[in-house]
Amino acid sequence: MALPLLELARTNTALDGDALRHAQRLVASWQPLADLCFSDLLLLAPVAWEEGHRFVLLAHVRPTTGQTLYPSDLVGTVVEESDRPAVARAWRKGEITGGDTTILASSDRARVQCIPVRHHDELIAVMTRETAMTLGRRAGELERHYSDVFESLARMIADGTFPFSRDEVELDEAPRVADGVIVLDETLHVRFASPNAISSLHRMGIYANAHGLQLAEIGFDQHAAETAQRTLAPVIEEIDRAETSVLLQAIPLIEATRVTGLLLLVRDVTDLRHRDRILVSKDATIREIHHRVKNNLQTIAALLRLQGRRLTSVEAQEAIGESERRIRAIAIVHETLSRDVGDVVSFADIVHPLVRVVEETVSTPELRLHFEVAGDVGDLPGEIATPLAVVLNELMQNAVDHAFPRATDGLTEGHVRVDLARDGDELVVEVVDDGVGLPQGFTLDKAKGLGLSIVHTLVTSELNGSIELRDDHGTRVHLRIPLRQAERVEL
Ligand SMILES: Nc1ncnc2c1ncn2[C@@H]1O[C@H](COP(=O)(O)OP(=O)(O)OP(=O)(O)O)[C@@H](O)[C@H]1O
Ligand SMILES: [Mg+2]
Repeated sequence: MALPLLELARTNTALDGDALRHAQRLVASWQPLADLCFSDLLLLAPVAWEEGHRFVLLAHVRPTTGQTLYPSDLVGTVVEESDRPAVARAWRKGEITGGDTTILASSDRARVQCIPVRHHDELIAVMTRETAMTLGRRAGELERHYSDVFESLARMIADGTFPFSRDEVELDEAPRVADGVIVLDETLHVRFASPNAISSLHRMGIYANAHGLQLAEIGFDQHAAETAQRTLAPVIEEIDRAETSVLLQAIPLIEATRVTGLLLLVRDVTDLRHRDRILVSKDATIREIHHRVKNNLQTIAALLRLQGRRLTSVEAQEAIGESERRIRAIAIVHETLSRDVGDVVSFADIVHPLVRVVEETVSTPELRLHFEVAGDVGDLPGEIATPLAVVLNELMQNAVDHAFPRATDGLTEGHVRVDLARDGDELVVEVVDDGVGLPQGFTLDKAKGLGLSIVHTLVTSELNGSIELRDDHGTRVHLRIPLRQAERVEL
């Protein structure tokens, strides 16, 4: 559709408020109508203040059961009364009329039926049904039943009883005419069932010939049909039987507040439901795996701690201690991934526990460090969150280890801030401290420590990002990481 109905109606027509909503509801629920009459449906509303001499084409739907007369999109076109006299006639008389024989913007011939669209006592638009002129073709039983139902619904549109005033939940999976149709009479006896509907019944283990019987008599749930009949409103229900799931929509056909029959649309959703279940269990499995990875990492961390305690060399103890801390940082990410659905994590859920891990390592009582996390980057995919967590851990640890060496001379207050932001397609992360700053002549390439080389490797090769360290009343580490990691070349 070129322009949305709302915009077209507001700029060209006098439609507004409830009347406009009625037109929108019609368009939201008219696909079955197009399918039932194997025709294109067009919605035309008069151009404002012209008393029905020109009409603007607000919306168009093609049948999924047959060929369209309008392969190209004409929505937005303005139609003159002289081109479409029947539309103007239907508009003035407020009656269903026929008569025009050429399609819009072409000289191709068509049968056109014009149905006035009423909302309460007001005419708001004209819906046309446009069918190709196929001569000499006799309608089969299915076409006759579909056509009857369409005529009932067309009269309801002209009476103002269709579309239904209650806002229906719009379901992506709502059944369509091609999925299966059952037509009931006013006493809920089956008048017709389409071949696809019969196949669905068979899959549910119902082999009885439904014709002339009530649904309950053939063992099919009749609740939706009864409710639709009683409430004069459509009902959608899912029925499970014999490992088959069927979505059923019951639409009452109404003539002057009396239900004259029901249109049931039936869709076999067994495969869909099956896929849903697999997806749910796949999700649960992935979460369980993250949970186990986290447990295993914690076990490794605990083993390292045990081993560290047995060492006498301070240097070796420190090295083991750091490894333990690095592993715990990764465990935090898996912990979060095991709680969230899907493979993204809210990074805030990771940063705060990470800060706590680092805080615990401040061992000098004279150093009082204040950590702060500012900003947020929202959800991140696991493949960014994991390396980024390790990187942040190293940078915060460096602030603890190196920024405040004079803490032993007396009480020192220090501040470490992690800034998180998104800049377009990039993450911008900064770790800032107000300590002594980097050593003289420090460059990243010359840095010998393991911490910064881990940071460098993860940021540049793993995350495709960039890193910058500079003195700024302390140390400021600036990271930029592209959010789109997809084009990464696997080496
Ligand atoms: N926030 C900071 N303030 C002051 N100096 C820093 C800061 N961050 C890093 N440095 C300097 O950079 C050096 C390299 O850091 P790096 O993390 O690579 O190694 P390390 O911390 O010494 O050892 P490791 O991280 O492997 O335990 C540090 O030794 C320190 O001199
Ligand atoms: Mg370090």
